[in-house]
Amino acid sequence: MIKINENYKKLQTSYLFSDIAKRVAAFQKENPDKEIIRMGIGDVTLPLADVCIREFHKGVDDLASKATFKGYGPEQGYEFLRQAIAENDFQSRGASINADEIFVSDGAKCDTGNFQELFSQDAVIAIPDPVYPVYADTNVMAGRSGDFINGRYSRYIYLDSTEANNYVPDLPAQRPDVIYLCFPNNPTGATATKEQLKKWVDYAKKNKALILFDAAYECFIRNPELPKSIFEIPGADEVAVEFRSFSKTAGFTGVRCGFIAIPKKCMVWDVEGKEYSLHALWNRRHSTKFNGASYPVQRAAAAVYTPEGKEQVKANIDYYLKNAAMIKQAVISAGYRCTGGDNSPYVWVNTQTDSWKFFDRLLHECGIVCTPGSGFGSCGNGYVRFSAFGSRENTEKAMDKLVKFLK
Ligand code: MLT
Repeated sequence: MIKINENYKKLQTSYLFSDIAKRVAAFQKENPDKEIIRMGIGDVTLPLADVCIREFHKGVDDLASKATFKGYGPEQGYEFLRQAIAENDFQSRGASINADEIFVSDGAKCDTGNFQELFSQDAVIAIPDPVYPVYADTNVMAGRSGDFINGRYSRYIYLDSTEANNYVPDLPAQRPDVIYLCFPNNPTGATATKEQLKKWVDYAKKNKALILFDAAYECFIRNPELPKSIFEIPGADEVAVEFRSFSKTAGFTGVRCGFIAIPKKCMVWDVEGKEYSLHALWNRRHSTKFNGASYPVQRAAAAVYTPEGKEQVKANIDYYLKNAAMIKQAVISAGYRCTGGDNSPYVWVNTQTDSWKFFDRLLHECGIVCTPGSGFGSCGNGYVRFSAFGSRENTEKAMDKLVKFLK
């Protein structure tokens, strides 16, 4: 008899965005003529930048000729991409991350989900609430969660992110081993200052904890005072790794490419207290289970760092930021409180009512899809998230409907 991994029984019925997709599909089936505007999952709608498309094509052409053909690439990613990442995303901001500390992958969802494999089963996990569900669910699968009781897993330390703390959690009373942080935050759209991140870095150092920092939305930061990388904080390279993605930066949600920066200085320990390099452990894992992101995709990703690429990618982000500002303005004008929308593509709205009820009413009455806040954790109940990744036309149309609906 084949036995299942019992931990899977502790997962909630289905992954949040699959659940939403099912409800929307059912609604569409019942109302085939009703227009639906999707502001739920953060999926991009603008085409890739021209320069990325050109390099993508060139990458494919290289595969068509014997002289330039590529088979397996380096598991960690091609040097041309790792070097461009290290220089542009880190060194240019004073963070001393080198090319050989970058691991290119097929996206940040896999990376943030897989990274927990490196830790012992009894590692204590601190996760924000609300949170991107991947961090929580993958640790459930690995057996670190304990039971799900009254909407929370018994072994997690929850870092409540609420209006009261401006959605930047306070340090926990109980000591964790692994701390997940995400800024600009998904789902709340909140950002953290250098001082706020420094508090976490100092705490991690003092407690021999590790910060898993998800910076998938850093490209939306326009405020020059805000850090884009945790490695802008002195000492973070001893206690943090950072996840990045080309999905939101360059519209690669369907293309798939991301990376992790793991400083060589970052150490972890075995039960006897012997020190190990986190970089070496991940390298072992990555080269065993991953054969590298595809060559044409890495060519397209490297194009993001050319002067032309930077300009084109920024234009797309500006477009989404304008949508975000429009959503924020609409919500405020209707007399509701929200966060995000500046330096972030998400607007997190206090609906003062049950999240799923709001979701259903908005879908049925206006044909607008949002994401119910409770799907991100119990602190999200009473909130919904709007994504700014739609077209301008749809965003304008949806906001007209939303304002009337809210009023
Ligand atoms: C979201 O909507 O939260 C994200 O797009 C989901 C993801 O990146 O996997």
